[in-house]
Amino acid sequence: LVGDGMPQFRTLRGMRDFLPKDAKKMRYVEVVARDLARLYGYGEIITPVVEHYDILAAKSGEEIRERMYAFTDMGGRRVALRPEFTASIARLVATKMRHEPKPMKLFCAGSLYRYDEPQHGRFREFWQANYELIGSSKPEADAEILTLTYDLIERLGFRNYWVKIGHVGILRGILAQEGIAEEQQNMIMQLLDKKRLDEALTVTRESGASQSCVAALKKLLETRGKDVFQVLKETKRVVEDYESAVAAVENLREILELTRESGVKFETLIEAGFARGLEYYTGMIFESCVPEFEIALAGGGRYDKLIELFGGEPTPALGVAQGIDRLVLAMKKQKVSPKVPEENKVMIIPVGEELKTKAFELSLKLRNTKIPAEVEMMGRTVSKALSDADRRRVTHAVIVGPEELREERVVLRDMKKRKQRVVEIQNLSKEILRGPN
Ligand code: HAM
Repeated sequence: LVGDGMPQFRTLRGMRDFLPKDAKKMRYVEVVARDLARLYGYGEIITPVVEHYDILAAKSGEEIRERMYAFTDMGGRRVALRPEFTASIARLVATKMRHEPKPMKLFCAGSLYRYDEPQHGRFREFWQANYELIGSSKPEADAEILTLTYDLIERLGFRNYWVKIGHVGILRGILAQEGIAEEQQNMIMQLLDKKRLDEALTVTRESGASQSCVAALKKLLETRGKDVFQVLKETKRVVEDYESAVAAVENLREILELTRESGVKFETLIEAGFARGLEYYTGMIFESCVPEFEIALAGGGRYDKLIELFGGEPTPALGVAQGIDRLVLAMKKQKVSPKVPEENKVMIIPVGEELKTKAFELSLKLRNTKIPAEVEMMGRTVSKALSDADRRRVTHAVIVGPEELREERVVLRDMKKRKQRVVEIQNLSKEILRGPN
C-alpha cells in the first residue's frame, strides 16, 4: 500500500464511490424505476452477485464473456460476478419458478460487473434496473416493454431522446437460409454490433453466402430512418426472398403499430441491420439513446430460446435493462432535476449538558411524525451549532433551553428566515410542518 512513503488508498480502476449527493441521484432513478415496476405489475426478485461461470456465460456472447470478472472460489468452483441479470433470471425461470403462471413479470435492480475499458459512462461496476416479461410470444409483450422504457424516460423528465429498434430475425433469417452456421452468424452479429461493417461482410462472404445475400446484407445496413413504416416497407423489399426475414419485418411492424396506436410518442429510429452484443436475442431488439451520448441508456430485446437452454420448457421471453449510471449522467447533461419535494431537516440543540436527554427524546418524537431530526453531538455552543446547521442546510433548529423547558416549550428557529419563536413542545411537529410563517 505504501508507495513513495504515502499510502495510496483509492478505488480500483472503473470502480467508484458514491458520496451522498451522487448516491441520492442513483437511488432516485432506482426508486422511480421500482415504482414503475409496481405500476406495471412486475414483482421484485433479488439474485446473487456471484454465480457459476457457466450460467452467466451461456449465450451472453463473446464480448461479455471475455470481460467477466471470473475466478475460482475457495471451493474450487469456477464462478463470476454477474455481468447482467438476464442469465440469472432465465436460471430462476427454468428452475424454482418453472411452475409459476405466465406471463411472469420480474423486476430487479443492483450492481453488475464488466471488465470494460473505462470511459465516460462506461464503468467496471455499474447499476441496472431490469425488467423481464416471460411467457408471451405476442407483440403485446414487446409493446409493453417498449412502453415501459418510454414511460421511465418520460418520468425522469428527459426532453430529447429516441429509441433505436431492429429485429435479430431479419439478419439471422437471411444468414440461416443461406446455410450459415450459428457460430458464424454470431461472429457476424458481433462485428455488426461493433460497427465493423466491412469485416462483417467479409465473414459473410467467406462463410459461403451467395452474391445476392451479401448484396442484400449491404443494402440492409443502409436501410434505416425515422419514418418507421416506410423503412419497414423498404426492408421487406430487400429481404423478400428470405421467408423468415420477411416474418421478422412483419413482427416488427405489428409491435410498432400497437405501440404507436396506444399513444407512445417516442421518436423511433428503425435500423434493419441493427445488432446487439448479446447472443441470446431472437426477435425485436432496441436501445434508448440521447444526443449527448454515443452509448445507449438502456438495451433490451426478445430471447425466446434462452430459458430452454437452462433446462426449462421452451419459453418465449423478453426484457430491458435500464443503465442507472447512464440515466443519471444523461439527466445531468439535459439539466433534468429529480422531482423530489424539499424536505424539512431539523437540528435539536441542547443548551446545556443536562438537557441532552430531552433533546434525544424530542428527536424521537419528531421522527415518529416523519420529520428528519438530528441532535447536536459535538458539544458546540448554541451560536456555533447554529452556524453549523446553516452549513448543513438544516431548515429548522430546535433550541432546548432550561427556561422554556420549565413551561414545556422550546425555541423553534426558521433557519432560512433567521427568525425564531417559542412554541409548545406538544405543537412542535405541527409548527415545523406548517412551513415558513
Ligand atoms: P446491455 O445492453 O448489455 O443489455 O446493458 C444494458 C444497459 O446497461 C446499457 O444500455 C447501459 O446503460 C448499461 N451498461 C452496460 N454496460 C455498462 C458499463 N460498463 N457501464 C455503465 N453502464 C453499462 C443487457 O445487460 C441485457 N441483459 C438487457 C436485457 C434484459 N435484454 C433482455 N432482458
